[in-house]
Amino acid sequence: MTELLANDAAGIARATGLLLAGQLVAFGTETVYGLGADATNARAVAAVFDAKGRPHFNPLICHYPDANAAFADVEAPELARHLAAAFWPGPLTLVLPRRITCKVALLAGAGLETLAVRVPAHATALALLRAVGRPVAAPSANRSGQVSPTTAAHVLEGLGGRIAAVLDSGPCPVGVESTVLDLTGRRPFLLRPGGATREAIEAVAGPIECGVTQAAAPATRTLRSPGLLVSHYAPALPVRLAATDVAADEALLAFGPPLIGAGAIFQLGATGDLIEAAANLFSGLRALDAEAARLGLRRIAVMPIPETGLGLAINDRLQRAAAPR
Ligand code: TXA
Ligand code: MG
Repeated sequence: MTELLANDAAGIARATGLLLAGQLVAFGTETVYGLGADATNARAVAAVFDAKGRPHFNPLICHYPDANAAFADVEAPELARHLAAAFWPGPLTLVLPRRITCKVALLAGAGLETLAVRVPAHATALALLRAVGRPVAAPSANRSGQVSPTTAAHVLEGLGGRIAAVLDSGPCPVGVESTVLDLTGRRPFLLRPGGATREAIEAVAGPIECGVTQAAAPATRTLRSPGLLVSHYAPALPVRLAATDVAADEALLAFGPPLIGAGAIFQLGATGDLIEAAANLFSGLRALDAEAARLGLRRIAVMPIPETGLGLAINDRLQRAAAPR
């Protein structure tokens, strides 16, 4: 049963408690309803992907109550600070390098060195973010492939029974997702058109490069292309999938009872729990990569992961990691 929480102090307090306990809570923003999770809790973030039924891991946007909180997690050059001053709170998401001290789970950023951050222009959302006191990762609160929800009823249609609660703050005024602007390259790059227009951004930032046109991204459709523009983390070592044996010069990414004989082991999930495996995936790949380099191992062998639930997204990422480069 998904709780429907009222837009008052008690509703916000209940939503806060659930989020801090690692539960999923959908909440309204000025753009669309987000499916929120404590971004520092890898298991909660994995549960977001599970609830959405995404067949692959997209990096998620982290939400903050103000620019200071956001810029504590990412490095913000002067341009980012200017854009934040002009647009926040508001429907602009900035992609910036993670700080070393950033506690956001690697899975929230799909293993990337960068993080998408935003401050929503919505009183209830800001009150919730202030009360939680941690970054809240929130993709649009719809099942994968369905349109983004702009009312609590939309959220319940898609995710009812799959998430702990919806904080009902009424319809979303903007109704289209935030604009995603990547500031990690030489020039600002528009990854996804949205609530903040290109013209308004260029008035502050000067000319920006553009991945997709406004016309190609109708407000009523799920925007698919941005995910394709994102370059994903892959380990330095070659990856061998569906391993049923392992050699002494291989590092093993184990799932369930581990194979014997590996030079190093990282356990994704001893009991075969796919949510736990997803939560551990990127930190596991990084740990094995580093350990294998230290020990002079030549490959990462990966035990079979079932093609059910989050196993699809895990296998999608592992297949990319194993593809010839
Ligand atoms: O309006 C919004 O942005 C809504 C509300 C809930 O805030 N959220 C939303 O999140 O639309 P989501 O996960 O559905 O979309 C996130 C977009 C994706 O297109 C993703 O590829 C991009 O942001 N993104 C996130 N992190 C990124 C990163 N580190 N690098 C590049 N793109 C990133
Ligand atoms: Mg979405």
